[in-house]
Amino acid sequence: MAPLSLRRTRQTPALRGLTREVRLDREQLIQPLFVVDGIDAREPVAGLTDVHRDTPASLLEQIRSDLDAGIDKFLLFGVPAEKHAAAFEHEFTSAQVASIKDRYGDDVFLAVDVCLCSHTSHGHCGILNEPGDHVLNDATVEELAAAARSYAAAGADCVAPSDMMDGRIAAIRRTLTDGGLDRTVVMSYAAKFHSNFYGPFRQAADSAPAATNVLADRATYQIDPARPTDALLSAERDHAEGADILMVKPGLPYLDVLLELSRRIPRPWAVYQTSGEQASIDMLSERGLMRRNAAQLETWTAFRRAGASIIISYAARRAADVLPR
Ligand code: PBG
Ligand code: ZN
Repeated sequence: MAPLSLRRTRQTPALRGLTREVRLDREQLIQPLFVVDGIDAREPVAGLTDVHRDTPASLLEQIRSDLDAGIDKFLLFGVPAEKHAAAFEHEFTSAQVASIKDRYGDDVFLAVDVCLCSHTSHGHCGILNEPGDHVLNDATVEELAAAARSYAAAGADCVAPSDMMDGRIAAIRRTLTDGGLDRTVVMSYAAKFHSNFYGPFRQAADSAPAATNVLADRATYQIDPARPTDALLSAERDHAEGADILMVKPGLPYLDVLLELSRRIPRPWAVYQTSGEQASIDMLSERGLMRRNAAQLETWTAFRRAGASIIISYAARRAADVLPR
């Protein structure tokens, strides 16, 4: 037998194109957006290239330019000006959802993040008990379901809870159905880890846990990086509770989890390439230490290899430069 040549099929762009096992289409990308109440002009997000905290007006322009670039799927984060400890209002974000849908209708697919950390005075993802050392599960779930219902009623195509409370998927699904909103898709941040790759986001969303808190970080509700089995149970539960799309987050540090969970649970899988991951690429590129678009494509290819069909990426709007041809 002739000796095996692995290099023969690597010779030309034609052969390399023919032999690729995964590829990526623009259709699979979701672009995060931030809309902030009470700012006069849009502001850049530190560490990220071409990502802003938008005003309601600049948000509509941003979406226009993204549509022109071939990106029509979005994940919206609403940041209200007023912070509370309980009794939240969901009007600001709901109004932005309505205005996007009013302007662009079904030309955009609009998912809306559901959490409380941009709404709370302390920055945690839920309502705290009196001593402030614990996030109350069921009281938080009730608020999350109300938020989801409000966004869905305003026209969101999808709601995406990122809080990590127990039972929130079932509660949201039930609330949507009771409200006649049974066509709204639920995308669960099912395997969301307690990560250090969320830094730029927390500034953008004004959602970092305050330094004065008794409860210092999100370790009591987000998954420990050393517990992949906890991620599996979380995803199985969210699947059973009726999530339509399941997500792993962050992406690159958790490719093993994405691969295993996407093989085990036959649902659409999304991956969230988080702000810290994106900043790693953007800041290295700014310093001339990385080729931005090639590096971006390499990461997106890794997500496809590991089983994601949906990629949430801050660089989605640069897809025309990133994707081959
Ligand atoms: C908050 C939330 C976070 C992200 C999405 N929703 C961060 C966190 O849990 O503190 C991460 C997004 C990113 O880093 O890009 N519930
Ligand atoms: Zn949160």
